[in-house]
Amino acid sequence: MYKYDEIDQAIVDERVAQYRDQTRRYLAGELTDEEFRPLRLQNGLYIQRHAPMLRIAVPYGMLSSRQLHKLADIAARYDRGYGHFSTRQNLQLNWPKLEDVPDILAELATVQMHAIQTSGNCIRNITTDQFAGIAPDEIIDPRAVAEIMRQWSTFHPEFALLPRKFKIAVSGTKQDRAIVQAHDIGLEFYRDSENKMAIKVWVGGGLGRTPILGSVIREHLEWQHVLTYCEAIIRVYNLHGRRDNAYKARIKILVKALGIDEFRKQVEAEWAYLKDSPNTITEAELQRVAQYFTKMPYDTLPAHDASFDSAIASNPAFAAWVKRSVHGHQQAGYRAVTLSLKPHGRAPGDATSEQMHVVADLAEKYSFGELRVSHEQNLILADVKLSDLFSIWEQARAAGLATPNIGLLTDIICCPGGDFCSLANAKSIPIAEAIQQQFDNLDYLHDIGDIELNISGCMNACGHHHIGHIGILGVDKDGSEWYQVTIGGKQGNDASIGTVIGPSFAAEEMPGVVQRLIDVYLQERIEEERFIDTVRRIGVAPFKAHVYAKKEAAHV
Ligand code: HEM
Ligand code: SF4
Repeated sequence: MYKYDEIDQAIVDERVAQYRDQTRRYLAGELTDEEFRPLRLQNGLYIQRHAPMLRIAVPYGMLSSRQLHKLADIAARYDRGYGHFSTRQNLQLNWPKLEDVPDILAELATVQMHAIQTSGNCIRNITTDQFAGIAPDEIIDPRAVAEIMRQWSTFHPEFALLPRKFKIAVSGTKQDRAIVQAHDIGLEFYRDSENKMAIKVWVGGGLGRTPILGSVIREHLEWQHVLTYCEAIIRVYNLHGRRDNAYKARIKILVKALGIDEFRKQVEAEWAYLKDSPNTITEAELQRVAQYFTKMPYDTLPAHDASFDSAIASNPAFAAWVKRSVHGHQQAGYRAVTLSLKPHGRAPGDATSEQMHVVADLAEKYSFGELRVSHEQNLILADVKLSDLFSIWEQARAAGLATPNIGLLTDIICCPGGDFCSLANAKSIPIAEAIQQQFDNLDYLHDIGDIELNISGCMNACGHHHIGHIGILGVDKDGSEWYQVTIGGKQGNDASIGTVIGPSFAAEEMPGVVQRLIDVYLQERIEEERFIDTVRRIGVAPFKAHVYAKKEAAHV
């Protein structure tokens, strides 16, 4: 993975010193709350419901085991012994003390990490596919360009005060796992008719209050121009995006207001000035950065491993875990492994310090010392030998990281909601936990099969509820907490925004509601059809009828 050079390191170290002094001045009463606010936000520090919340950047979701060990130590020493991996592949600490943050940032800097630009109206952490570089369906490994974009966007002077935050996702696979259509800019890498790396550029996607899927602004962009083209897009947005209304400030609103054709016209006109300017990426620069993302020193292995095959045959629990948690790999004899951060009874995405140490050790021992964070809030070991899978399973299981529920109903995406977030309308973690309790039978979960259930505590949609096959949104009605349900949302190439099924429900009704949605699906599905395909085929009406019929009957 990318290693900081002296310049990267100096910038991060200087920022720590600067922020230490800013915090000192604030605590000494030399800076007001208002003066300190932008300074702390530039360093990832929010003030939340119970305590500050620190969001630590994980560039395109990649971590070294050394970094994860450090995060574990920080969580133990400065927080309550756990951290929350977020849908933006970052790590959030929910209980740091404001006065400790400079020390935390100093510790992070020793392992080439920081919290810069994890908040505020700037270009945020760039996200990508957790299987980048190893996915069998990969066309182009997007990580080198993602890293170049990280360097370009961090501290971009022109884009430090945009109308709103700005999110960019990159994907280089046949099946999009980075949700490029739900981002302000989505970059889809492919090979053009001359076999050259090219980019399809999407713009104006985003969830939140007004969920919109992005539009294609350019079908074919030569990779050399990715920075200048993004600059043209963001410049047009910076000039014309709405600053008078925070709810209408995202680029999606501008693109919608102008229409994609007019927006494209303006971007192309701007690009005419920028094209071929110094931010054009040279072949040499791409090569320089790409060398950090070359293939791992894989052993030459046969496609099959006898010990693995016999473990599968003799151990049903192991086989069940492999079925859900182990993924294909470009290299013969290797696999990727998802470690589940979704056991029953814990907030989805949370990992304890002990668990972080276990994962870091596993990465060190079995996966070249690297790991990834997925936007589904799990951790991934990307380069594992078939012959090591059984040992990994045993160790992960002992640490509570091997619940075989990846891609199943209990692999819930869930924002921190009312337990931590000051913007929440309702709690989301207890809803996730109640659903996990309701569906605690693994055989039944496997029978239901691939399904995505996403929960957000308010319409900011941090839990991606719009694009969940089942989406749950916390709403406030007369000061009490209610939950609105959508179905038919989907991420990926054929992304869609879910449809609301009807009036919202009380918290205690939610497991029953999900159960009834599943009942309809199980009754209506054809052969191996997934939940989302059944919804798309038969529509929302049968689900709605069943859920509300039961609700009315129960109220009689
Ligand atoms: C607790 C502190 C948090 C605050 C104050 C916060 C704030 C917000 C706000 C205001 C939005 C609305 C964006 C818009 O409509 O323009 C939003 C959206 C979003 N946030 Fe958060 N959030 C928090 C935590 C999280 C967490 C924990 C995650 C990941 C698990 C996350 C990931 C996202 C994502 C993916 C969106 C989707 C909206 C989009 O991309 O358009 N946020 N957040
Ligand atoms: S969706 Fe709302 S409640 Fe959940 S983390 Fe985002 S802002 Fe907070």
